[in-house]
Amino acid sequence: MRGSRLPPAGGVPRIAPLSGPADGRLAILQHDVLVIGAGLAGMRAAIEAQRNGADVAVISKVHPVRSHSNAAQGGINAALGRVEGDTWEVHAEDTVKGSDWLGDQDSIEIMARDAGENILELEHMGVVFNRDKDGRLAVRSFGGASKQRTFFVADFTGQAMLHVLYEQLLKSGVRIYEEWFVTSLIVENGTCGGVVALEIRTGRVEAIRAKAVILCVGGIGRVYEPSTNALICTGDGIAQAYRVGAPVMDMEMIQYHPTTLKSNGALITEGARGEGATLVNSKGERFLSNPRYGTTNKMELASRDVISRAEQIEINEGRGVDGCVLLDCRHLGEKLIREKLSQIREMGLDFANVDIVKAPIPIRPGMHYIMGGIKTDSEGQTKVPGLYAAGECACVSVHGANRLGANSLLDTIVFGRRSGAHAAKAAKGMSLPAVPETRADLDRKHIEELKARRGGEPSARIRLEMGRLMNDRVSVFRDKAGLEGALEKLRELKSRGKRISLTDRGTVFNTDLIFALELDFMLDVAETIVASALFRAESRGAHTRMDFPKRDDEKWLKHTLASWTPDGPKMDTLPVTITRWPPKERKY
Ligand code: FUM
Repeated sequence: MRGSRLPPAGGVPRIAPLSGPADGRLAILQHDVLVIGAGLAGMRAAIEAQRNGADVAVISKVHPVRSHSNAAQGGINAALGRVEGDTWEVHAEDTVKGSDWLGDQDSIEIMARDAGENILELEHMGVVFNRDKDGRLAVRSFGGASKQRTFFVADFTGQAMLHVLYEQLLKSGVRIYEEWFVTSLIVENGTCGGVVALEIRTGRVEAIRAKAVILCVGGIGRVYEPSTNALICTGDGIAQAYRVGAPVMDMEMIQYHPTTLKSNGALITEGARGEGATLVNSKGERFLSNPRYGTTNKMELASRDVISRAEQIEINEGRGVDGCVLLDCRHLGEKLIREKLSQIREMGLDFANVDIVKAPIPIRPGMHYIMGGIKTDSEGQTKVPGLYAAGECACVSVHGANRLGANSLLDTIVFGRRSGAHAAKAAKGMSLPAVPETRADLDRKHIEELKARRGGEPSARIRLEMGRLMNDRVSVFRDKAGLEGALEKLRELKSRGKRISLTDRGTVFNTDLIFALELDFMLDVAETIVASALFRAESRGAHTRMDFPKRDDEKWLKHTLASWTPDGPKMDTLPVTITRWPPKERKY
């Protein structure tokens, strides 16, 4: 197996020092490859870049094991021949169909082909995947898949993977800038040459130079309220890339997961349905058997966009229960739930006061994932030389208009690894790009101005208004009037956002400041989502336009592309790559 052996231990992790020279600044910080974000894509990219001989650092606004990958529950897909007739081609075809033919098939082929090797490597690193009664790696069913091919660790697969990759990162000796917030990307003469970042613990702002920067900053979930995403998923890196000239693609493609809790938007894994849980309405009917939903064959294991739409129609037409439908796990039995679904049982008890062993749990579609992101090629390269992206923040595009469950962990590992390898090779023999001494002063000045401002409203109020607006107007169903209204409101929020003020003006762990900086990035991201949703005048995958209810391959078998201008996003299109699976009608 290629690349299964890690380099020898590199000693203790090199955490960025607390103190620097007498003037209070750190010594010049520079690396061959700088990875932003320490979730699964980031750590996998860093490990691979280091294996390829680069001096690598990871910078993260939280401790690595607090990254959002931690929250991934259900599993990771690969056709490893566990079920007869399953091959990487079948996996790829399921993914193409899941994407409603918007995914680029060359990238999907790479992901499906590389999946098995990557999962075996994770297992060899130490991820304790569940095993079946014969001791082989176990698989469970997942939505939109024609074969069982989801490998899992109970219902905390992401957490298990994250901890193992963190061990590998520590072992590799990669330097970690822990709890540093990147305030901007440095681009000089059209090339990315590093970042400016704020050390949250001390408030110091420094430039970090690099020959290659890999954005692995995750999704944008908190642009919506509620969301299954952690509070840190604010899309900072996506907005930063967009602002320096890297276009974002298919931003309108927002996944609403069919099973989230009403109280706080928390995820109840698709793994429950994979194990056999059913969805019922207030009349006790398994509504997915209704032919109007196109789910009579796969039922609860149809793809997410299709099920979320069906649930929302049940709720809208009065067959819901207090704004939800019900997920019934009772027939799975306490033993299976204890062994494979223990986390969601606890979550049901804590946040919905329901024990899934004893009663159906109310759930509803909730914002979960963005299929779009920074446009990259299959090595993670963006349009800006020296700038890469991988994982949820990137759009390769393997998920198109709808991602299949358990393909996102796979995406992080496969494309994190590829971008790490490419960046390290590109950095070899390259000299560090020139960065003006004063580059960090721009960001220092911006922060000081923000702290000096008085009498404005708090960023939290604008953030909540934005989140609710997005969940209201840019969710499972959209239309022109709602989207135009959302765009107008966002522009008002952007102008109010310029006048916010802080209550904490200190330097140490100033989370008020971090929230304010995040809001500015989130508003840009929200604007690209709405502008792209208005632009795509058809319904495809997760993007259902009530005013254009049909998929329109003639006009819209295309990606949408948004580029930054001072007046807002400039919209364009790009062709979709079709290799061997031409578009068909989509039914489950
Ligand atoms: O339902 C889940 O466990 C989510 C998995 C995913 O988004 O891939």
